[in-house]
Amino acid sequence: MMSYFRDNIEALEGYTPGFQPKQSDIIKLNTNENPFPPSPEVMKVLGAFEAEKLRRYPDPMGEDFRQAAAKVHGMKPENIMCCNGGDDLLTMAFRAFCDESRPVAYPVPTYSLYPVLAKMQNCQAIEIPFDDEFNLPVKLTKTDAALTIVCNPNAPSGSFVSIGEMASLADELPGVLLIDEAYVDFAEDNCTALIKDFDNIIILRSLSKGYGLAGLRFGYAMAQPELIAGLMKIKDSYNVDALAIALAAAAIKDREYFNKTTNEVKKARDILVERLRGLKFKVPASRANFVLAESKSCPAKVIYEKLVQRNIYVRYFNLPGLENKLRITVGTIEQNEKLISALEEILRDCMK
Ligand SMILES: Cc1ncc(COP(=O)(O)O)c(C=O)c1O
Repeated sequence: MMSYFRDNIEALEGYTPGFQPKQSDIIKLNTNENPFPPSPEVMKVLGAFEAEKLRRYPDPMGEDFRQAAAKVHGMKPENIMCCNGGDDLLTMAFRAFCDESRPVAYPVPTYSLYPVLAKMQNCQAIEIPFDDEFNLPVKLTKTDAALTIVCNPNAPSGSFVSIGEMASLADELPGVLLIDEAYVDFAEDNCTALIKDFDNIIILRSLSKGYGLAGLRFGYAMAQPELIAGLMKIKDSYNVDALAIALAAAAIKDREYFNKTTNEVKKARDILVERLRGLKFKVPASRANFVLAESKSCPAKVIYEKLVQRNIYVRYFNLPGLENKLRITVGTIEQNEKLISALEEILRDCMK
């Protein structure tokens, strides 16, 4: 049958989001959500929100959020653009910078949405493999791509590239460098300071991970005002809704809760890494709220399936470079311990 779609869309497989099971009696460690609820300040604003306000269109710029985020980062509101989740910014970046003659480049393995967006935009994706230690590939500077993306901390490895290396990369690139900092809230450092020196850097932030607001769909871009103004031209007119602006502003203002909960997750992560290594998993150091684990004694697919039977969900990708690895979101210390007990049993059975 004839297709109504453009050829590249007809051929597209589409992005596969992590499974969202309906039951509540499960341990869900598959989509890097925060084990903590959003800030109590968010709950207060939600409770007091006047539904009548929804009759009107929202502020197209999300000024309340821009002001709050600018204050947190020591920038101006002109440096910030609100997005309907970080994914909204990624879509905009592909639309703004890439086409048939303007490629995108990124190191792999990384966030599996990038190649999907490249196919949608019909642009070439130059994928450069990380080495075994997940160091930034030198070849990344040699691509002439219109858009280079580095996910930092990287998903799904959790590895982190230093700010100095990012600065050198931005300096050498002829095009835009988008630093995807969706998971940076769990790292010790971030690249925000580079914005003032580089007119080709865009930083992506998400409220889905560090702020426990994946269901709200809110993220933001940081860049010099000229890049932000260019991106504004292609965003949906009202890309973030009135309720989301109010709740996201409340969340980012509550620094105390943010610091407390992200520190708890980091502590739980470090314990989880030790426990997994104790079970002889190979686990690279992670600066994110997930870890990448590989067992020598049992295939990842088998472990994944046996965990599902025990109502524990982790992420298994079956993609090049990740065939035998599981990405495990850091849960509460209690959830992580249940996972470890289940893994002990599974590995014992596997070796029989
Ligand atoms: C690496 C990376 N970047 C960006 C995003 C987008 O996050 P969101 O659209 O929920 O803000 C995700 C979501 O999982 C991600 O893993």
